[in-house]
Amino acid sequence: MENILVVDFGGQYSQLIAKRVRELRVYSELIPYDMPVEKIKEKKPSGLIFSGSPGSISGNAGLKKPPVINRAIFDLGVPVLGICYGMQLIAHLLGGEVSGTGENEYGKTSVNLLTEDPLFQGLKTSEICWMSHRDSVVKLPDGFKVIASTPSLPIAGIADQAGNVYGIQFHPEVIHTPSGMDILKNFLFNICGCSPAWTMVSIIESQVSAISKTVKEGNVICALSGGVDSTVAAILVHKAVGDKLTCIFVDHGLLRSGEDEQVEKTFRKNFKINLVHVKAKERFLSKLAGVTDPEIKRKIIGGEFIRVFEEEAKKIKDVEYLVQGTLYSDVIESGTKDAAKIKSHHNVGGLPEDMNIRLIEPLRMLFKDEVRKIGIELGLSEEIVRRQPFPGPGLAIRIIGDINEERLNILKAADKIVVEEIKKAGLYEKIWQSFAILPAIKSVGVMGDERTYSYPIVVRAVVSEDAMTADWVRLPYDVMERLSSRIINEVEGVNRVVYDISSKPPSTIEWE
Ligand code: XMP
Repeated sequence: MENILVVDFGGQYSQLIAKRVRELRVYSELIPYDMPVEKIKEKKPSGLIFSGSPGSISGNAGLKKPPVINRAIFDLGVPVLGICYGMQLIAHLLGGEVSGTGENEYGKTSVNLLTEDPLFQGLKTSEICWMSHRDSVVKLPDGFKVIASTPSLPIAGIADQAGNVYGIQFHPEVIHTPSGMDILKNFLFNICGCSPAWTMVSIIESQVSAISKTVKEGNVICALSGGVDSTVAAILVHKAVGDKLTCIFVDHGLLRSGEDEQVEKTFRKNFKINLVHVKAKERFLSKLAGVTDPEIKRKIIGGEFIRVFEEEAKKIKDVEYLVQGTLYSDVIESGTKDAAKIKSHHNVGGLPEDMNIRLIEPLRMLFKDEVRKIGIELGLSEEIVRRQPFPGPGLAIRIIGDINEERLNILKAADKIVVEEIKKAGLYEKIWQSFAILPAIKSVGVMGDERTYSYPIVVRAVVSEDAMTADWVRLPYDVMERLSSRIINEVEGVNRVVYDISSKPPSTIEWE
């Protein structure tokens, strides 16, 4: 199978590059930058893409030490495309020079392209691109020429056409570079000679076969939430191991209104897979009592989940593996060896160290929209495939401060109204997530001639492609008006509704 390996130097967009390549129907996966060159050769890549990195070759103050790949990588004769830091690394390794010129660039800029170059074939001589860098290439290595420049950056793209080595300082993988996919297409199809043959069916087949090889004698349990990720993970594993699989659905008391019964009903109706429904509300809430720090909440929930799974595993006997529907966005935000930690997703950074069970995570390298496509291939209902994402720690990370029964009930009631109104307005499937948050403040209001001093509810609705970036939804005023009046009138303990108008970055989707 043709494959493009994205060498990960710790950039926030590394996996997004691999995803873009898969969108162009060529298989792609990430490899760590310190994988030995011999191992890389064994994978028979059709091309290599060097990612960005928080590191600095010039030793720019405040940036990390640069991760470096063995120079022998160029002896493989495989085409290479370096993006951002990746281009700087190519220049550095092959005898050019990188410097912190003081010309930091961040955001959209126009770039002049040498369109005779195979990388830019079919593009305009001037395109918009997205930059985010502090170091720059200031001297070319021998054999290279400049193929792109911006008003403030004379070397924004480099090529050694004979050696099939290319570099661009801007990011073709982000949507803010409108012709980015054309550049990647040129690299894949003109330069690496790939053909667009890979599909989601290939991933189903390869995962099912890998899981069958991994699981030998023992049994398997799956952490089921009812969302598309864990459901798809469960079906893939079920295809591989059949009745050795039992799904465990834990109600930690932090689910949305009615969700507990709904998930069980839908799962039993649609699938012939063993299911255990564990009611563990008291246990989770007592552990969370008095805890206000978001990271501690996440760690408690991640840890408690695993303890419940271990206990259930003991009842089933000979359980060797736990399946989780972890996605790439969970992995990257929890921090990797080379990428910064944003928050500990309960199923990654929130896991306890003394875990007694091995993990199978068939979706770990994928993004939500890819998992939805697999779900459709697997014949899942629209109801499951289109369900908005809901975080594993549930309402715990939407209740700022103390979590108790009273505050949970307020948030559940408000959230139910948000979902109902967004659905009524026909917006549910167009929006990535829409939900309510309960902050830890109160404000003064007046109701029926009486003073009130109650909580506000924050409504958040965002659009996103993959949860890595997001924008707030410009909700119609009439929808906002209904949300506000219904929440204030119907939810006791709330006297104000506010709307969150922050994008990600710099905010995140969830408040904690
Ligand atoms: P943030 O808040 O980081 O969220 O912008 C990105 C996406 O991830 C979801 N999320 C989680 N999902 N476990 C999960 O399963 C977690 O601990 C977790 N934290 C955030 C969030 O709802 C959004 O879709």
